[in-house]
Amino acid sequence: MRRRLARALVLPLALAAAMPALSMGFSAPVAADSVVIGGFPVEASQSPWTVALSSRDRFGGTRAGQFCGGAAVGPTTVLTAAHCLDEDVLGGPPERVRDLKVIAGRTDLLSDRGGQEIAVRRTWVNPAYDGGSNAGDFAVLTLAEPLQGDSVIGMAADGDPAYTAGETATVYGWGDISGTGEYPDGLRAARVRVLPDALCEDAYPGGMDGTYDAASMLCAGEAEGGRDACQGDSGGPLVAQGRLIGLVSWGIGCGRAGNPGVYMRVSHLMRTLGWTRASEGV
Ligand code: ARG
Repeated sequence: MRRRLARALVLPLALAAAMPALSMGFSAPVAADSVVIGGFPVEASQSPWTVALSSRDRFGGTRAGQFCGGAAVGPTTVLTAAHCLDEDVLGGPPERVRDLKVIAGRTDLLSDRGGQEIAVRRTWVNPAYDGGSNAGDFAVLTLAEPLQGDSVIGMAADGDPAYTAGETATVYGWGDISGTGEYPDGLRAARVRVLPDALCEDAYPGGMDGTYDAASMLCAGEAEGGRDACQGDSGGPLVAQGRLIGLVSWGIGCGRAGNPGVYMRVSHLMRTLGWTRASEGV
């Protein structure tokens, strides 16, 4: 799993487009209209806490080196997925990637202007992250300079009603929009629903792709498929009731019926880090 995920990310985008089977594992492509699958364009200003992780060195300059998403929870604190910083993805430890940056406040990655590009000063990858089950898929980035304005989202702690199954949630990202390696220039969002844990326990009982663990993961999408996050969205925010509940983590294919998106559960991260407040470093 670990290798397959990583490969999906490091494939140059052009190559990924030409090799859909590789870029998305074993899954059949979903309908082209079907973030983010089944999504719609949004302006960065509508979700200023959504940031792009970038390294032009590693991923090329055409889309500003974007390779994952992230969520700003403090002026200098960004959350992302642990697997985004995997050595297989970055070609070495994250400290070695000299131009590792966060891009904030920029809708269109083709434009090299607008918003902020901020260097990552420190990366902390959850040491308990398990690339086999995908449990604990989070990392904390400390930025060299603060984000401008009010671009921080509050986190939903344990017991927050935003986690209730049936809640409407929105996922944001610059990831694949069709499951065939079709990467948009602009930020997109998709509306999904928080799904019952039992659904993901059934879908992902344990196997090559990962094991659903309700304590540390969150299941969201549409039972019938269609709307979902996809490759390149990892680390990005899932928001319900205006609070951060998940980070894009994994799934089988994208938007497939019976294979909902799996997110790292933000309350699990808060518990692990001993964070009790809704935002960090404010
Ligand atoms: N692992 C992917 C990434 O690195 C995210 C996959 C999410 N998949 C899904 N069906 N929700 O970008």
